[in-house]
Amino acid sequence: EQIEKGGYEHFMLKEIFEQPKSIHDTMRGRLILNEGVIKMAGIWDHIEKFKNANRIIIIACGTSWHAGLIGEYLIEEYARVPVEVEYASEFRYRNPIITDKDVVIAISQSGETADTMAALKLAKEKGAFIYGICNVVDSSIARITDAGSYTHAGPEIGVASTKAFTAQLTILTLIAFKLGKHNGNLGNADFMSLIAELDAIPKKIEEVLSSTHELVQNIAKDFVGATNFLYLGRGYNYPAALEGALKLKEISYIHAEGYPAAEMKHGPIALIDENMPIVIIAPKKGHYDKIVSNVQEIKARKGKVIAVVNKGDTQVSAMADYVIEIPETSECFSPIVASVPLQLLAYYIAVYRGANVDQPRNLAKSVTVE
Ligand code: AGP
Repeated sequence: EQIEKGGYEHFMLKEIFEQPKSIHDTMRGRLILNEGVIKMAGIWDHIEKFKNANRIIIIACGTSWHAGLIGEYLIEEYARVPVEVEYASEFRYRNPIITDKDVVIAISQSGETADTMAALKLAKEKGAFIYGICNVVDSSIARITDAGSYTHAGPEIGVASTKAFTAQLTILTLIAFKLGKHNGNLGNADFMSLIAELDAIPKKIEEVLSSTHELVQNIAKDFVGATNFLYLGRGYNYPAALEGALKLKEISYIHAEGYPAAEMKHGPIALIDENMPIVIIAPKKGHYDKIVSNVQEIKARKGKVIAVVNKGDTQVSAMADYVIEIPETSECFSPIVASVPLQLLAYYIAVYRGANVDQPRNLAKSVTVE
């Protein structure tokens, strides 16, 4: 096991550090930058299904559901196809309206999650075209879908999903750009500049890992005794906030909630005092001014702000108690980049609390029960 951990203390840390490679591997053979194309046989062979779809329904659980939410932002923005994202467990029990004009995408690292599998079967029975985004090759979900794309993240051992999540976001980004280019909603110049930026994401993740690792470790020390956390983000980073909160709660057992930052004033603001740490994702591109006012509201109530900002940020940084800098990207890539320090934060808080990071209590890597 020590050899498999490759010198890291836990699989989770190893997997966090593998992300430049796992994202690169997920794009390899698909994103052909010098030809200016995205090759995805699973999509291309069924392009008419996607093109003529009334809507795309994404079903998943847990972290994969968070990836699905970001997929909704991506596909609606770049391909202009309506997307709905559902918890597989809710979808399957509510007699959903599905027709043969729907495309249902299931996202699952393990490819074995019982609720996702059952929801897919239901969609298939009702005539939808079903597509899988799985990490485990030849898994049950991969086998029952009409087509799919594997994430090539490699085996994920830590129960808390990290590299599978960013690989899922990579696939969803490729799908959104490919569909958008094909159906004419994403012009060639924008397509070219977006794929060049996507190609450079692994380098940016490397940069984030080396520039934030020690800093985040130190920040974590100050929150070992915390009992609650709020995670806030807007737009693409709202699901990233949900994911940051899930990472923290599942491995450190600290209660954490993710919220769209604007929803704060509809309830969670009542919780804010000097004992409430708030992680806020505040990149330049993506409603930055609105986030600035959210931070002002938090500071007026003495909340402790841990801000994830772009390099060179001044406004949010001036108010925050802790600042984590990440490189600037187009908004659609910011959840991939911002998730990395949030994974590290959850990891180190859990380690300092003496928790079993790779095998948290009550959780299984694949949830094969309903
Ligand atoms: C992630 O950290 C969790 N352990 C969990 O939410 C997980 O994402 C969920 O059970 C779905 O698993 P799947 O991707 O294998 O279907």
